[in-house]
Amino acid sequence: MKGTINQLIRQAENKSIEDTLGFLSSNFPNQVVFSSSLGQEDQAITHMIATTNLPIEIFMLDTGRHFQETYDVLSRTRKKYNLEIKSYFPQASDIENLLNTKGPNSFFDSVENRKECCFLRKVKPLKIALNGKKIWVTGLRASQSENRETMQLFEYDEGFDIIKYNPLIHWSFEELNEYLDKNKVPQNSLHKKNFPSIGCAPCTRAIMEGEDIRAGRWYWENSQKECGLHSH
Ligand code: ADX
Ligand code: SF4
Repeated sequence: MKGTINQLIRQAENKSIEDTLGFLSSNFPNQVVFSSSLGQEDQAITHMIATTNLPIEIFMLDTGRHFQETYDVLSRTRKKYNLEIKSYFPQASDIENLLNTKGPNSFFDSVENRKECCFLRKVKPLKIALNGKKIWVTGLRASQSENRETMQLFEYDEGFDIIKYNPLIHWSFEELNEYLDKNKVPQNSLHKKNFPSIGCAPCTRAIMEGEDIRAGRWYWENSQKECGLHSH
């Protein structure tokens, strides 16, 4: 696996992201998928895939607890690019059990309960979305958090048994915003209201001046602030 990863890293050297995505989709036909949370990073990648018409499936994990603004940007993006963005929903019986045993807000009670909710609403559906695929494209950036600083352009994800491609891993926040503005990419209206990182509505708040860009995620916790999608 290490050999394949190194080969892919070499292959991507001096290539644009669009060219690398093109290379991947022709070398791994129907096995390259992109997970989008509709965040800024993901919108930039969606723009690249849509404008180059690459046969890469884009999907969103719809936890059922997103902001209306997130559904709005999903809807605008589908229309603007005439693009299918597939939704993966949690299993109804999982959520019914969770709600019936622990109530609708169990995530506030403990880190364990919060991770359980993330597992049922995100990680389990992600396993289904990645099943049988070879390359998982994400919008991760190293400067988003300490935990992400050591992430690589390509890496093997043991948990999901898949190769991850993080094309924006070395992009700065400024570079990203410049790209989005220049290309008039649709964005979540909450970004303008100090929500740089957006997850589920009950678990995300706006950040205050000087705070870390992920400070608004699971803001009541002192944990590592990851939900299990990217347990590096
Ligand atoms: S999270 O783990 O804290 O929720 P974050 O919001 O930073 O992740 O997003 C990092 C990457 O994880 C995104 O670029 C995207 O590839 C993936 N991701 C996160 N949430 C979702 C989601 N709801 N649906 C699809 N992909 C997601
Ligand atoms: Fe549940 Fe909050 Fe995780 Fe969303 S972010 S899946 S509501 S705990």
